[in-house]
Amino acid sequence: MFFLLLWTLWILDTVSASVTVYGQIPMGITSASSPTATVAAAYNTTLLQPPEIPDPAPNTSFTLTLPSSNTSVARLSIPVPGAFYGFSIEMSVITQLFGKNSSFIQVPLLNLFSNVAERAGELHVRVGGNTQDYAFFVETLPEDRAISKQSADTNNPTQTPAVIYTMDLFYLLGNVSALVDVKWYLGKFLSVPFNDTSDFRLQIVEYGEAVLGDHLLGIQVANEPDLYSAHQHRNSSYGPADYTAEFGLMVQALAADSNVPVKNNLIGPSVSGTWTPEMVWNTGFINDYVDNLFALSVEQYKLTPAKYNCFPIYGIGVFHDPQIEFSDFLNHTSAVALCEPYLNSTSIAQKAGKPFLMFETNSASCGGFPGISDSFGAALWALDYGLQMAYSNFSGAMLHVGGQNVFYNPFTAPPTNVSKYYEWTIGAVYYSALISAEVFGKTNTAQIVDMLGNSESIYTPQYAIYENGALARVGLFNFMTDPSGANSYKATLTVSGGTVPSSVQVKYFLSDSVSTKDNITWAGQTLGTIHEVDGRFKNDLNIVTISCDTSANTCVIPVPAPAFALVFMQTEESIGTATFPTTTVKGGTATVPPAVLATSNGMSGADWQLGSTSDEKSAGHPRLGTDVLRGVLFAVGLVALAL
Ligand SMILES: *[C@@H]1O[C@H](CO)[C@@H](O)[C@H](O)[C@H]1NC(C)=O
Ligand SMILES: *[C@@H]1O[C@H](CO)[C@@H](O)[C@H](O)[C@H]1NC(C)=O
Ligand SMILES: *[C@@H]1O[C@H](CO)[C@@H](O)[C@H](O)[C@H]1NC(C)=O
Ligand SMILES: *[C@@H]1O[C@H](CO)[C@@H](O)[C@H](O)[C@H]1NC(C)=O
Ligand SMILES: *[C@@H]1O[C@H](CO)[C@@H](O)[C@H](O)[C@H]1NC(C)=O
Ligand SMILES: *[C@@H]1O[C@H](CO)[C@@H](O)[C@H](O)[C@H]1NC(C)=O
Ligand SMILES: *[C@@H]1O[C@H](CO)[C@@H](O)[C@H](O)[C@H]1NC(C)=O
Ligand SMILES: *[C@@H]1O[C@H](CO)[C@@H](O)[C@H](O)[C@H]1NC(C)=O
Ligand SMILES: *[C@@H]1O[C@H](CO)[C@@H](O)[C@H](O)[C@H]1NC(C)=O
Ligand SMILES: *[C@@H]1O[C@H](CO)[C@@H](O)[C@H](O)[C@H]1NC(C)=O
Ligand SMILES: *[C@@H]1O[C@H](CO)[C@@H](O)[C@H](O)[C@H]1NC(C)=O
Ligand SMILES: *[C@@H]1O[C@H](CO)[C@@H](O)[C@H](O)[C@H]1NC(C)=O
Repeated sequence: MFFLLLWTLWILDTVSASVTVYGQIPMGITSASSPTATVAAAYNTTLLQPPEIPDPAPNTSFTLTLPSSNTSVARLSIPVPGAFYGFSIEMSVITQLFGKNSSFIQVPLLNLFSNVAERAGELHVRVGGNTQDYAFFVETLPEDRAISKQSADTNNPTQTPAVIYTMDLFYLLGNVSALVDVKWYLGKFLSVPFNDTSDFRLQIVEYGEAVLGDHLLGIQVANEPDLYSAHQHRNSSYGPADYTAEFGLMVQALAADSNVPVKNNLIGPSVSGTWTPEMVWNTGFINDYVDNLFALSVEQYKLTPAKYNCFPIYGIGVFHDPQIEFSDFLNHTSAVALCEPYLNSTSIAQKAGKPFLMFETNSASCGGFPGISDSFGAALWALDYGLQMAYSNFSGAMLHVGGQNVFYNPFTAPPTNVSKYYEWTIGAVYYSALISAEVFGKTNTAQIVDMLGNSESIYTPQYAIYENGALARVGLFNFMTDPSGANSYKATLTVSGGTVPSSVQVKYFLSDSVSTKDNITWAGQTLGTIHEVDGRFKNDLNIVTISCDTSANTCVIPVPAPAFALVFMQTEESIGTATFPTTTVKGGTATVPPAVLATSNGMSGADWQLGSTSDEKSAGHPRLGTDVLRGVLFAVGLVALAL
């Protein structure tokens, strides 16, 4: 929702090459060897204390009885796509994250996308946010940029700037999709200027459909219309019925536009809590536009401006101590309470035959909380929340990515003028998206149930996942932090209507504490710490094999405090898929020729190895399991020297 640019001067109201210094730059940087000099929120080092162990503590051993088939499971979700968790990218940070134009694509981004897409089958990325509200098309931009910015929106507390883009934005996205199976959601405002509903500026739809084709999933019509009045995009009487009526004008404009072949890919209402979705349903929205809608959507952060304002970054409103808020993320009630208000709507969406999407979310609006948003605890929270959304019959959710000056980014690119010296920074919640892809798998048949075992302890939630109707995986959380081991637990899994296999494989998501930001591992591997990330996993893959007792029909799975454990109840081909051998260029200027990109559809990894001044790093390339890696091999480092 909120891309942040405090400390950055947006003084130009015309397009200019000098305007796009992005967010906060490492202060006092003198050489490539002083990465600790950074102070922007994405690199904030605040370390909180893990919450105390609750009293009474949950039991440290309990049994979960798992039906072998989905036919005897109550409360099972609808089928969940592997690409359930995707990313929502603020339109204004495209240059920094994706690259300057379609000829310069950032390799770390491709790797980070590829990691998820490879596990999920594909990746869904939404380009939009507050900055879509003022976005408009121009024929050309200086320096062959795909995207640039105009002046800031002074009516919005986040001072979001107007984005201007060229045709090359679509080629840029198209070229990403040619390399990694990314499918896109694009967004547009209802009308620009706001008082002129005869000028819809439909280029983003026309060109999006023309260039992206099947890779365009849908068009979000209006971002958070329930805040249009507050942001002075509409007058104070603007209500749900006005939104529904304007949506109708958009539908008419698209119907009349012969450059828009696809007319049924719209997404709304993307309300963010100021209006309930029911307020929009009650205007007849779904009935009126059932033939035009691809999906229904909402947006919701855990901590919202209504209560938390924007203190950490903007100094607006009331200060809330992150240490006190931290425990609200570290229990299952958090995920359940976030989903509960939407259960009526997910049921309504099912009846209408439409997917229900969480179009933008993260730990806290207005950029997040220091110490919380980038911690291992936030990653456990986001994973539980994602699984709970799936259990609640959402069909997708997008974790928001902002600029340098937010705490919650799943990934952050270095500021462009230091991109030669630094690599990327991973935020803990990136792992949540990656792991959810493994939880749901690639078949798009996954169904999930919240097991509510261990006397429904809120500190040890558990889920079971069925695939093609059969018990496939079990997810086990431990939200507590206790290095002594006294609050590790053992879950005894037993199968009803079948027997446990002779052994199961387990992947652990681990860190020393819920507070940590570094030293986070998934199945033994990590992406690295601040300014170290090139998108490839480091260290050896470590999948734990646990023997089961087939005569007793039990598998005993230890779960440390803190951890998430994913238990594979079936032998899985893809379990060993883990790394993407890639090189990066540090300080180099290797580029991918556009002609190569333009013809790269369906290229295999091996074909994609262009000559470069590669600086091969010591990433491990373990290949456990039976599957051969088929990941895209990004062997070319691109340095987008965009400024
Ligand atoms: C982290 O961010 C908070 C809120 O902006 C700030 O008060 C604090 O000084 C920052 N701490 C570090 C270590 O960067
Ligand atoms: C521990 O398990 C027992 C037996 O199932 C149950 O009665 C008790 O409430 C549990 N204790 C906690 C703290 O959940
Ligand atoms: C991207 O920018 C570079 C450098 O300005 C330029 O040479 C190239 O032609 C641009 N690519 C496109 C597709 O505009
Ligand atoms: C890739 O970008 C080039 C321009 O740089 C464009 O001509 C081409 O159509 C793009 N490819 C795709 C698949 O969008
Ligand atoms: C929109 O507002 C502008 C500025 O107030 C005005 O000049 C213009 O006529 C208005 N357009 C419509 C369609 O009302
Ligand atoms: C708000 O705008 C609508 C549509 O332009 C108009 O009908 C209404 O009278 C306006 N209300 C106020 C309070 O200005
Ligand atoms: C669900 O939403 C519909 C449509 O807005 C509404 O009529 C109904 O009262 C809601 N049901 C519940 C239980 O909230
Ligand atoms: C659990 O989380 C909920 C929602 O975030 C919060 O209201 C509650 O206080 C938390 N419970 C404990 C015991 O920390
Ligand atoms: C999800 O949808 C299924 C199928 O309609 C339903 O049985 C189940 O109760 C729903 N889950 C929740 C949590 O509402
Ligand atoms: C990057 O740009 C910022 C802002 O213009 C400047 O203060 C900083 O010195 C630059 N850093 C380098 C390494 O050029
Ligand atoms: C069980 O799974 C199969 C295969 O995915 C699916 O067709 C069926 O609808 C599921 N049954 C229930 C009750 O969810
Ligand atoms: C990193 O985590 C591992 C496993 O949790 C632990 O053994 C190790 O001591 C940690 N290292 C650091 C530097 O914290």
